[in-house]
Amino acid sequence: MTPPNTAPVANNLEAFLMPFTANRQFKKNPRMLAKAKGVHYWTPEGRKIIDGTAGLWCVNAGHGREEIKAAIAKQLDEMDYAPSFQMGHPKAFELAARHAAMLPGDLNHAFYCNSGSEAVDSALKIALAYHRANGQGTRTRFIGRERGYHGVGFGGISVGGMVNNRKWFGAQLPGVDHLPHTHLAKNAFSRGEPEHGVELADALEGIVGLHDASNIAAVIVEPCAGSTGYLPPPKGYLKRLREICDKHGILLIFDEVITGFGRLGTGFAADKFGVIPDLMTVAKGISNATVPMGGVFVRKTIYDGLMQGPEGAIDLFHGYTYSAHPLACAAASAVLDIYKDENLFERAAELSGHWEDGVHSLKGLPGVLDIRNLGLAAGIDLAATGPVGTRGYNAFVKAFELGLMVRQSGDAIAMSPPLIIEKVQIDEIIDLVGQTIKATA
Ligand SMILES: Cc1ncc(COP(=O)(O)O)c(C=O)c1O
Repeated sequence: MTPPNTAPVANNLEAFLMPFTANRQFKKNPRMLAKAKGVHYWTPEGRKIIDGTAGLWCVNAGHGREEIKAAIAKQLDEMDYAPSFQMGHPKAFELAARHAAMLPGDLNHAFYCNSGSEAVDSALKIALAYHRANGQGTRTRFIGRERGYHGVGFGGISVGGMVNNRKWFGAQLPGVDHLPHTHLAKNAFSRGEPEHGVELADALEGIVGLHDASNIAAVIVEPCAGSTGYLPPPKGYLKRLREICDKHGILLIFDEVITGFGRLGTGFAADKFGVIPDLMTVAKGISNATVPMGGVFVRKTIYDGLMQGPEGAIDLFHGYTYSAHPLACAAASAVLDIYKDENLFERAAELSGHWEDGVHSLKGLPGVLDIRNLGLAAGIDLAATGPVGTRGYNAFVKAFELGLMVRQSGDAIAMSPPLIIEKVQIDEIIDLVGQTIKATA
């Protein structure tokens, strides 16, 4: 007997298993987006939503950029796809050279992939391969940080420090330790980098003391933790981490998936803090989220370290079918033109003072426990009104009803508008956040 067809019918919301979503709750009361331009989305009913989060921290140059569309269309006409294993296409090399030219220090080689998660797993593997190629194959341990988010690959969830990403999936990388997070109550309502907490980096010495440096491959941190409520690093913290890593021959990886491409008012957080990591992971703003793309930028020493085998041997036994996809390369190159022509990184720096004043004006509203900002992003901790996450979710939904998109992380909300935002639009966002906070207190 043929079993009854239980496949969901067309236009039914059932079939899509949505990522990071309360599926049943959403499907009862969906929040749909149908159109986007500039700093706005529109719902299918035509309701206008101001994009307070650049999509998911990724549409830095704003939505619907004609220049990117034209570059993708042109590339599609010329060549839709080309593999990057043992062959190449010119746009990949051109893009890598452009990225190398804009990166600080000797971070001048690029590996490409399709997402931040892939970038993180690739960076961890490049670190292992580098040590092995250099006769230090015992260096296999990784050190992440509590409240870190490094995507959803098994590498990323292992070094990440968000409990829900870890508790559901038992299998983790063996040999991972975590530094303490840097969210200290005594730093509440800091403007920019908080004063206290540089000494939290010293926990790395303790971990080295426990395992010995000869077993440790790399430390990975987000220079400014994004997904757990936006936590700028304490003053001097990243420099201290760099010094300790140098002392012990441990590689330092900055996960700049959020901070890369202008979010802090500089090209990268490495520029902002004057600290150069050995490897840097990026995604999101690299292509303005038009075509999925991620990357790992590595220092010359790492690249050279991998080039020691026989000339005919594969140097890095790792890659993706879509590494340096021609459409992604075309998009990423067009995005670089926009960033440069419109001085968007400098623009973010210029706007950051107005942004800072705006978000900190919300201090004193009911249940506001902390406000943090750096560059063109901010996090606001809200007092719980029920089980963890209830207040944050209610605020997220309320904001959407009022016409604003924010991110929720537990009972915190985070914001990161496109870098093309105008001052009046920042004021509008702040007003809507204020209304949201009062309505959900
Ligand atoms: C710091 C960081 N790393 C990695 C990722 C994962 O990126 P993706 O969702 O593109 O896999 C994210 C995503 O938000 C992120 O913020």
